[in-house]
Amino acid sequence: MSIRNRLSSRIFFRFLVWWIFFSWFPGLISSAEVRLDSIEIFNKHEWILNPTVYFACKGENMTILPDVTKKDVVYSFKGEESWQPLTELKSKKCKRCGFYEKDTFKSDDVFNEWEFCASDFNASGKYVLFKEKELNVTFDCQDCKSLPAGATGTGVETGNDGNKMHVAIIVLIVLAVLTVTIIAMVMAYKYWQKKKRQQDQARFLKLFEEGDDLEDELELSNSI
Ligand SMILES: *[C@@H]1O[C@H](CO)[C@@H](O)[C@H](O)[C@H]1NC(C)=O
Ligand SMILES: *[C@@H]1O[C@H](CO)[C@@H](O)[C@H](O)[C@H]1NC(C)=O
Ligand SMILES: *[C@@H]1O[C@H](CO)[C@@H](O)[C@H](O)[C@H]1NC(C)=O
Repeated sequence: MSIRNRLSSRIFFRFLVWWIFFSWFPGLISSAEVRLDSIEIFNKHEWILNPTVYFACKGENMTILPDVTKKDVVYSFKGEESWQPLTELKSKKCKRCGFYEKDTFKSDDVFNEWEFCASDFNASGKYVLFKEKELNVTFDCQDCKSLPAGATGTGVETGNDGNKMHVAIIVLIVLAVLTVTIIAMVMAYKYWQKKKRQQDQARFLKLFEEGDDLEDELELSNSI
């Protein structure tokens, strides 16, 4: 098999695997990035110093918003700031998240704490969080609507979903192994065919040469 042939079949194989992966299992995308579009705080708990506002979800690191220091000012973001994306949402499960202000003396002050769910985002991937006298925040998440739907599922359903995912992954692996096996078999057959053809050719040539020798001998004996 020529180098070019081998190269193109390898590229084709890779393409096939990715095609199977993405066309059959789009639901495997299981997390979506959430960005902060804008934030406005209506209240400042710290009176002397500038406030340090941060966002945090339960069990995750906090994200400090370094620009947000004044109340009644709308801070808009491009979504490419160093601390973006703000967080990630996984399929179905909501997260307990909040906006807080660091407090020098007491425990940190809470602007708002709520259940952050992928289903809160509307068709254009936006979600507005508003709490009177505290804050007004808009979030952006373009992938949230393509996450598996039904964010209000119960624990039992989540278990089912996990099982479905398992089955999907197993099916995917089996398919991949099958594809590799079939391609390997086709390649082996092609190789065998080529080898056989070469052997046949060699045998044929040899016959020819032997025939030549015979002719030479005949000519020799005739001329004598
Ligand atoms: C939280 O921050 C620590 C140290 O900066 C880092 O090692 C860890 O991976 C972070 N965890 C998450 C969930 O981002
Ligand atoms: C989604 O919400 C945003 C912010 O409230 C709004 O501007 C936009 O029109 C909404 N899109 C749809 C399709 O409802
Ligand atoms: C919240 O912020 C958005 C974006 O800046 C703005 O369009 C909206 O009017 C604000 N809502 C309130 C109640 O202030």
